[in-house]
Amino acid sequence: MGQSKELVLGIETSCDDTSVALVNEKGLVIAEKTITQHNIHAAFGGVFPELASRAHLHALKPALIEVLEKSKIDGKKLLAIGVTRGPGLIGSLLTGINYAAGLSIGWNVPLYGINHLRGHIRSVDLEEQRLETPAIILLVSGGHTLLAYHKNKNEIELLGSTIDDSVGEVYDKVARMMGLGFPGGPIIDKLAKQGEAIIQFPRPLLKDAYRFSFSGLKSAVARYIDSTPQAKQEDICASFVEACLEVLFIKSCRALTAYKPKSFAIVGGVAASMQVREKAQHIAQKYNVNLCLPPLKWSTDNGAMIALATWDYIHNNWQQKHNVETRLHIQEM
Ligand code: KG4
Ligand code: ZN
Repeated sequence: MGQSKELVLGIETSCDDTSVALVNEKGLVIAEKTITQHNIHAAFGGVFPELASRAHLHALKPALIEVLEKSKIDGKKLLAIGVTRGPGLIGSLLTGINYAAGLSIGWNVPLYGINHLRGHIRSVDLEEQRLETPAIILLVSGGHTLLAYHKNKNEIELLGSTIDDSVGEVYDKVARMMGLGFPGGPIIDKLAKQGEAIIQFPRPLLKDAYRFSFSGLKSAVARYIDSTPQAKQEDICASFVEACLEVLFIKSCRALTAYKPKSFAIVGGVAASMQVREKAQHIAQKYNVNLCLPPLKWSTDNGAMIALATWDYIHNNWQQKHNVETRLHIQEM
């Protein structure tokens, strides 16, 4: 068994991916295993929370064993364990937290409860250090849509978030309406590339500086699908994506103008979108900022970003909890 004092184990179970990873201080991923539940939730066109918790329970042990075997690491020699403590689906979170607490007690290794959103933000520094502060962060996932100002290494100020649906959630719901499968984001992203944005969907809350709203856009797409059965799916997707991206990037540009940051980072599952990545390149050039995108593999939920975020908690001594009572302490991002 190798010496592993310099490694952190990250565990992510906040939604429908069970992911375990070993990461060093520089963000190098030594080993990782992600088990998705897409086949379980596909029948429902969205995540079924109770089934998600049960699936995490089954997947955690094989994922962990694979990571330990691949890396030949003795769990007792880890520096720390970091587990997502929220936000997320409560049953899924508790499954991961309890499993991590068991490992922490069994191995006598400190346990840290990690903010999932901080994990996404840290995903841009996996494999390679990319982010330079000050930075504007656009976080676009299935659970969240927000803009934040990353002032310095530790301070992150929320500028605005969605007042209803998140952008990823709306991608998934539009895909469900069109019978495209789950998760819908990657399918919509691909179809949108083949269509023309000829349908004028609304751009909700465009005048509000940094807050977002996507539920009205979702309803507008639903009405259009019902009333126009002859419409091409590719064109609906292209028009829907154009509306989403216009809102996301107009507000991002507002923040880039106001804060003049060094970097612009886009994180969360929707950052895996090729359309998002292409548009972001143009904006970064225009505003002369360093564009920071996580490697594709680390855009969606993963244990590696949680492990890297854990290093911040260790360095700042934010929350070192070994016991069950205190492990859910809230440490804001
Ligand atoms: O960050 P994530 O894995 O989970 C949450 O924290 O919510 O994000 C999942 C979301 C889903 O809505 C999924 O459809 C979307 O990210 N997504 C994509 C792509 N890959 C995943 N959306 C657009 N294009 C993609 N390639
Ligand atoms: Zn996430």
